[in-house]
Amino acid sequence: MRRGLTRYGDEDFSLYLRKAFIKAMGYSEDALSRPVIGIANTFSAYNACHGNVPQIVEAVKRGVMLAGGMPMEFPTISLHESFSFPTSMYLRNLMAMDTEEMLRALPMDACVLIGGCDKTVPAQLMAAASADIPCIQVVTGPMLSGTHGSERIGACTDCRRFWGDYRAGRIDRDEIDAVEGRLVPSVGTCGVMGTASTMACMTEAMGMMMPGGATIPAVHADRLRHAEEAGARAMTMAAEGLRPSAIMTEAAFRNALRVLLAIGGSTNGIVHIAAIAGRLGLRLDMEAFDVMGRETPVLIDLKPNGQHYMDDLHRAGGMAALLRALRPLLETDCLTVTGRTLGEEIDAAPPSHAQEVVRPLSDPLYAGAGLAFLKGSLAGDGAIIKQSACSEHLLVHEGRAVVFDSLPDMAGRIDDPALDVAADDVLVLRNAGPKGAPGMPEAGYIPIPRKLAQEGVRDMVRISDCRMSGTAFGTIVLHATPEAAIGGPLALVQTGDRIRLDVPARRLDLLVSEDVIAARRKEWTPPDTGGERGYAALHMAHVTQADEGADLDFLTRRPFTGTIP
Ligand code: FES
Repeated sequence: MRRGLTRYGDEDFSLYLRKAFIKAMGYSEDALSRPVIGIANTFSAYNACHGNVPQIVEAVKRGVMLAGGMPMEFPTISLHESFSFPTSMYLRNLMAMDTEEMLRALPMDACVLIGGCDKTVPAQLMAAASADIPCIQVVTGPMLSGTHGSERIGACTDCRRFWGDYRAGRIDRDEIDAVEGRLVPSVGTCGVMGTASTMACMTEAMGMMMPGGATIPAVHADRLRHAEEAGARAMTMAAEGLRPSAIMTEAAFRNALRVLLAIGGSTNGIVHIAAIAGRLGLRLDMEAFDVMGRETPVLIDLKPNGQHYMDDLHRAGGMAALLRALRPLLETDCLTVTGRTLGEEIDAAPPSHAQEVVRPLSDPLYAGAGLAFLKGSLAGDGAIIKQSACSEHLLVHEGRAVVFDSLPDMAGRIDDPALDVAADDVLVLRNAGPKGAPGMPEAGYIPIPRKLAQEGVRDMVRISDCRMSGTAFGTIVLHATPEAAIGGPLALVQTGDRIRLDVPARRLDLLVSEDVIAARRKEWTPPDTGGERGYAALHMAHVTQADEGADLDFLTRRPFTGTIP
């Protein structure tokens, strides 16, 4: 209770006043003399992915009290993907600031961070890295998979598949309404290898979560036992002073990136890990990451790359099965929140059993380079593509650009029967990056124009400066950096230009002469992106590009002192 006393100019008075107020909550002297474990509560009636947070909070409290401590829950911002205008990414940094400042402002010896939905875990880890007090991440866990007729379904890969079928006229309004009621059969995070699952798996690999926590379904009793264990362990971490900076080392980030590749994880994982590492003075080197990608196969057979769901991965042994299979490529002497190394935790995990979800290194789902880093005249400083979710025949493709100037422009024209577009064209969406949209929304999964979808076209090359949901699939180039709104190469493309994508050669090029590009650059004027007041003004003035995690520049630790991987 003595930590971070409010400044009245008299510390004894500050403590006396603090205790006077907190005693109104019925706490005894004994309770107030114990180590304090904060619990970041991200429950919100708007956030179904966090629907089990109240039960998790109770379980964490139980663990803290069984270990002799004093649990203190406190609220922070909660972000759900579908309830965050204009996009949850725009608010991730605000949540990170909120969490970091609470970790600093409130008296606590350690903290259990409860997150789950896509942006919440990155925001909490960014905060933990900056505040650097002992922290354990607990996630809400994946939802269960559901059924529609005889078919197994789950959010959100199947959300997109059914919506694509509806747009193409393959299913009618009644069926899409029925699907809407079945896609999310329980609370918890998306049940495929989307961003939430990706971040959970990376967090466990990085050592910031108790072993086994990434995959336990949200509604399983084990989820609560895991939370109780985290509460108890936070007490020991407080005594040991085991801080995030001792766990999230360069080697731990390498393990996390290795796991990102091996699980065929969300492209968003790259942006988030760049932001978390940036808080510790580490810069993500995308060319080195591409090299790591070429030597790291995709081992998990999960949607959107494969066929299974997160509850299948849990039954198959969860992260222990994956880490065991990946062990030759991991740095196993990294410390974890347990105080033991990653290698010791792999050894201590339950023995493997026969299963079909986690492949061995000798029989991968995808041989390598699930995520690839592109350079070239249209990629600027770089762009990425999730190769494992691409159509094979489009990996090398040349086509005519069809350009959408903004999200509203795309929404207004994509389904226009008069739109001049063919299946082998390349769809370009610009002004949708960190500043352009703003917030770099998940709009990179540009819908196939309705008239082409109705002809049976299921994939086209699509390019943008925004992000894509980890649950999506297709031949989609993302995160073009610098973004169009600050004059990146996408700003200068015109409908009718030729574009060439060559993923094996890691190239994305605009086949237009340099003279023409120079002339267009002279004519270019930046779009009006707003941001005159409040958080918007802060965001517009300080947000970095995707390669630095789209964090606020004053929150990263600069100058960078190292690179990952
Ligand atoms: Fe929350 Fe997918 S919407 S994890």
